[in-house]
Amino acid sequence: MAVKINENYLLLKSNYIFAEIAQRIENYQTEHPQANIIKMGIGDVTKPLANAIIREFHNAVNEMSVNDTFHGYGPEQGYEFLINEIIKNDYKPRGIQLNESEVFISDGAKCDTGNIQEIFSLDNKVAVTDPVYPVYVDSNVMAGRTGPMSDDGRYQNLIYLPCTEENEFIPKLPSSNVDLIYLCYPNNPTGTTLNKEQLREWVDYAIDNKSIILFDAAYEAYIQEKNIPHSIYEINGAKEVAVEFRSFSKNAGFTGTRCAYTIVPEEIMGYDAQGQTHPLNYLWNRRQTTKFNGVSYPVQKAAMAVYSSEGKNEIKESISYYIKNSAIIRESLKSIGLNVYGGVNSPYIWIKTPKNMNSWDFFDLLLDKAYIVGTPGVGFGPSGEGYLRLTSFNTLENTKEAMNRISNLSF
Ligand code: MLT
Repeated sequence: MAVKINENYLLLKSNYIFAEIAQRIENYQTEHPQANIIKMGIGDVTKPLANAIIREFHNAVNEMSVNDTFHGYGPEQGYEFLINEIIKNDYKPRGIQLNESEVFISDGAKCDTGNIQEIFSLDNKVAVTDPVYPVYVDSNVMAGRTGPMSDDGRYQNLIYLPCTEENEFIPKLPSSNVDLIYLCYPNNPTGTTLNKEQLREWVDYAIDNKSIILFDAAYEAYIQEKNIPHSIYEINGAKEVAVEFRSFSKNAGFTGTRCAYTIVPEEIMGYDAQGQTHPLNYLWNRRQTTKFNGVSYPVQKAAMAVYSSEGKNEIKESISYYIKNSAIIRESLKSIGLNVYGGVNSPYIWIKTPKNMNSWDFFDLLLDKAYIVGTPGVGFGPSGEGYLRLTSFNTLENTKEAMNRISNLSF
């Protein structure tokens, strides 16, 4: 008997979108070695780690070389020193009380948003906004929750909530009952946000329908405007229905260093087939202790420095640097007549392609005529067709140069 594979993997699109783009860049660069390509595709930071963070990182690495301060396996959930800083700085000032047991340190929001579906039954109905961060969809495809993809690019058993110009990228509540809802705000990829009243509708929906919201707040640090919630727990009742994912990647430049955290409140429950309730906190803890060995001690020490006063100041500076880039992108593209969205509370700018071009054609045009890499909107779902995403994570110089190059194109 030969080994059988998990055939759900065969239902996936052949390439993960960012792997596909990386491959295309490599091919293009090989064929055009002179091309000075500016990458505004994957949301990867360009600024190095702040001084306060690097200092703690070095100190902790040194500690690892000394008998008395060496650290072996740490707690799978993360060290208390970091958990306490998270509660004290990210939640308490917003009136949110959390226990240490509700915070789980991890190596990325990508991993956690991909893994969380494991603690839920395959029978659950899952809703995603469309366009959407592909990890939510693909991890459910792998698990066998979605069925095959139809010709329209939608998986048959997923509920898609379109976010387009017509609804100003605000998803409508599902018309049928759904169990799990993935929301990401500030949104990846559209760069748009929900205000408190809009997010409250989702929390109320989840309470009324006994649904659970998987809330990805990885871009929270980019929020500039008032009345935009930084955490879903700012909304009354959310602790009973929402898991929240946060990351040090986009606020503190940890994309290559890896540290994030997930909040699973003690109140939030799931049901077994007999209708008995079970705390998700227990299930997630059980999952993590079995499958995860924690983030390394030096990385957690480095993450703790994010909350030092020097760290906070340095991070604030780099966020405003990227937010200025967002403004430059928005204004430059608007001035040449393009419709652009997002980029106010987000490092992502969502652009309607000119002349109804499809996403990949516009991607190719920007690459070939301006040596600029974006992410085709359709890579985030069918409703992303006709859009392209740019990030503000490049340097100021490259961002300005990219805008000059695009302004010189005629569409
Ligand atoms: C993106 O470009 O959408 C993000 O960088 C992906 C990620 O954070 O994994």
